[in-house]
Amino acid sequence: MTSQALDADTAEQAVPLDVAARAIDLVKVYGSGDTQVRALDGVSAEFAKGEFTAIMGPSGSGKSTLMHCLAGLDSASSGTVRIGDTDLAGLSDKQMTRLRRDRIGFVFQAFNLVPTLTALENITLPLDIAGRKPDQDWLDTVLKRLGLTDRLTHRPSELSGGQQQRVACARALAGKPEIIFGDEPTGNLDSRASGEVLSILRAAVDEFEQTVVIVTHEPHAAGFADRVVFLGDGKIVNEMRDPTADTVLDRMKALEQA
Ligand SMILES: Nc1ncnc2c1ncn2[C@@H]1O[C@H](COP(=O)(O)OP(=O)(O)OP(=O)(O)O)[C@@H](O)[C@H]1O
Ligand SMILES: [Mg+2]
Repeated sequence: MTSQALDADTAEQAVPLDVAARAIDLVKVYGSGDTQVRALDGVSAEFAKGEFTAIMGPSGSGKSTLMHCLAGLDSASSGTVRIGDTDLAGLSDKQMTRLRRDRIGFVFQAFNLVPTLTALENITLPLDIAGRKPDQDWLDTVLKRLGLTDRLTHRPSELSGGQQQRVACARALAGKPEIIFGDEPTGNLDSRASGEVLSILRAAVDEFEQTVVIVTHEPHAAGFADRVVFLGDGKIVNEMRDPTADTVLDRMKALEQA
């Protein structure tokens, strides 16, 4: 390698990543005494802007806890969470509500849809509350790609589980938030619907420079990501870039045996 190439490399490494979310030494302890559980045991991770990360790991390894802490839905016992440059610990309840509303989208397994509202009303609810108008082209794209255009006037009870999950996904995407968190967003979907959800999350990253972080148990879903972070017993135990379903499956097997 020439010295010039070396300099260029070094210079590139010196440029700090544009970080959308960051966890620093995050610890979350539930309960006390004998029943105490250390759900997160010192997790530090950065989620670069415009990147799609999948979080994997066995049941109980702390994935949902990490997502909830990152998204400001739960507070850590110690450690720091930043969304962009904002330290969540420094926010009042009101500021936290506004940050979640304006900058973060969520897709969680319990869809949290409002039963009395139609699908479309549910999808635009966060925008309505914020007094923002949806970008109609983007909204149309999301609704079409998620196969929801003929379900918009239905209430959640009139939708299948998979359709409700896609409504929750559309709601998270509608406002084009900086960062979208999904806790098993494809958990209840068949392979076609799952592919639609994953490819629209991928498009949010590639076309709109949003940041996506999802929890998944499925190597196929992780294959859509730029990076996979593996949790075990509340710690990050492994990480890989440019995953494919096959390389993720191999790594999961290796981690199980370790
Ligand atoms: N509210 C709570 N009170 C007490 N313990 C909890 C609570 N929430 C989670 N835990 C415990 O914390 C640990 C991590 O839970 P978490 O839900 O983060 O796991 P997970 O990796 O998301 O698992 P899964 O794949 O099953 O969803 C588990 O041992 C769980 O029992
Ligand atoms: Mg979970």
